Amino acid sequence: MCGIIGYAGRREALPILLDGLKRLEYRGYDSAGVAIVGSALQVAKDKGFIADLEAHLPAMHGTTGLAHTRWATHGAPSKVNAHPHTDCTGKIALAHNGIIENYSGLRERLEEQGHVFRTETDTESLVHLIEAHYRGDLEAAVREALQEVRGSYAIAVVHADEPGRVIGARNESPLVVGLAPDETFLASDVPALLKHTDKVVYVMDKEMVVLTPEGAALRDLQGKTVQREPQRITWNLEDAEKGGFEHFMLKEIHETPKAIQETLLGRLANLEVDGFRAEDFGSVKLVACGTSYHAALVGKYIIEEIAKVPASAELASEYRYTQGAADRPLVILLSQSGETADTLGAAREARRRGCKTLAITNVTGSSLARETDKTIYTRAGLEIGVAATKTFVAQLIVLYLIALRMGLDRGTLGYEEAERLKDELRSLPRAALAVLDEEDAIRDLAASYGKEARDAYYLGRHVNYPVAMEGALKLKEISYVHAEAYAAGELKHGPLALITKDTPIIAIAVDDPTYEKMRSNLGEVAARGARILAVGTEGDRELPKYVDDVIPVPRLPWVFSPVPVSVALMLFAYHAARLRGCPIDKPRNLAKSVTVE
Ligand code: G6P
Repeated sequence: MCGIIGYAGRREALPILLDGLKRLEYRGYDSAGVAIVGSALQVAKDKGFIADLEAHLPAMHGTTGLAHTRWATHGAPSKVNAHPHTDCTGKIALAHNGIIENYSGLRERLEEQGHVFRTETDTESLVHLIEAHYRGDLEAAVREALQEVRGSYAIAVVHADEPGRVIGARNESPLVVGLAPDETFLASDVPALLKHTDKVVYVMDKEMVVLTPEGAALRDLQGKTVQREPQRITWNLEDAEKGGFEHFMLKEIHETPKAIQETLLGRLANLEVDGFRAEDFGSVKLVACGTSYHAALVGKYIIEEIAKVPASAELASEYRYTQGAADRPLVILLSQSGETADTLGAAREARRRGCKTLAITNVTGSSLARETDKTIYTRAGLEIGVAATKTFVAQLIVLYLIALRMGLDRGTLGYEEAERLKDELRSLPRAALAVLDEEDAIRDLAASYGKEARDAYYLGRHVNYPVAMEGALKLKEISYVHAEAYAAGELKHGPLALITKDTPIIAIAVDDPTYEKMRSNLGEVAARGARILAVGTEGDRELPKYVDDVIPVPRLPWVFSPVPVSVALMLFAYHAARLRGCPIDKPRNLAKSVTVE
């Protein structure tokens, strides 16, 4: 978690660092800070958003520096715990993303040696450790210090006596270097660099980088030079702007049809999905966190329905601590960012168990792509809003493609049926667009059902049960309404006790194999006086008899219905949160990419 940025060049560092940092704010936003090396080391930090820091900044001049936006792990969000942290001499400044696991032992030892600690953070032990090793060469001191550190880190370090140099290092937390004439950058993620360059080099685990205005030198932790060719980034600055929308989240929901189209592009005709072939495995295990986990749960239905291969889904944070079956399933790891620590841990565990691993991620060159046997990219474009939207749908699209490929490879799916399903896939951008056209009506329904609600219950069954879970997650994370999802068939086994006339029900009642059962479940709810908003199939004349309001979505074979239904639920959550005046792109306590376990 957290975002870091570093700069070594010939321009004033401060505006460059602040601008870049704002583009990393999705990674954490409880406090922020900056360090500039000019005639001396100057450090400023504050609690709150980057804008709060910026409002109170003193003049800081220098052409070398680093900055940090924080998502607290050790030590409460406060000015003193904000990064950068400095050593006893006030000459070394360090920004860190990750967790130093052996920090308390290090701290004890360093305190015995006379170092004075001022914060509750794990990071401060590292800056004092670097100080302890410093003998006039920052790079050497960082290298020696890192030999003693256990845990995850992406760091940027500067020293007052070494202007023009920023030292970076990485282990299990992302770090990318940007190269431009007369200046170099490092950052947790590409959006921070887009304004200045599209030429990047990814730093790998247990590697260091030395930035100077002339270039970046990569080395391993033993000091040996590492050669790696720079890559060109295809995202542009426009992708990192709101483009006239009030929030990134709304812009990104509206980009869903494009995300579907791009993800399908060139893959449908011959079902060529980045060389994926259904190899010799008996079953599939889908593993992920958060929204990606909900895509994994939908994936189970998709794969079983289309490819007839047994599939199951598991949370990445749980998968690692279970025994695993004797057979070796294909393990599919889903992660928008490709950096989620729990998902990376699960990928390693899957390989340890001898399973083949396949990543589905939106970020080229991400850690997950490197830690798995094969990667298929969603091509949803940059997603900045903390709540995942278009990338969720793009993950479903890749799952459809994989299922089709598996079915054909295993002979469980006939050619003609595959062609029919491909046509349906081609229609999905249109289906998503049709729901976006309903936005005004959905906004009114959000005002009626979501604006005042304290609790909301989402109901779904079968393939749309995980879609209901995702709908509830969207509402709770951005509007702070307590929202729960239930498999509608389970309602009578407990949750019904919670239903009153004041608890809005958002039900998915589209034409799927459980539609009729769903209608009976809605009858049970209506009998308890609850108001029901249903997402239903357009043209369904029966449904309005059972519910108060309907958001219509296009008729599709049930296996594809999660696509338009999720767009409807995203818009509903967005407008409910907007009407409640919530900070939609930066919900409290959350961050887009969680790189700690
Ligand atoms: C965080 C984000 C969620 C996201 C989850 C998994 O918790 O707030 O929106 O779904 O991480 O992220 P990933 O990048 O692995 O899909």
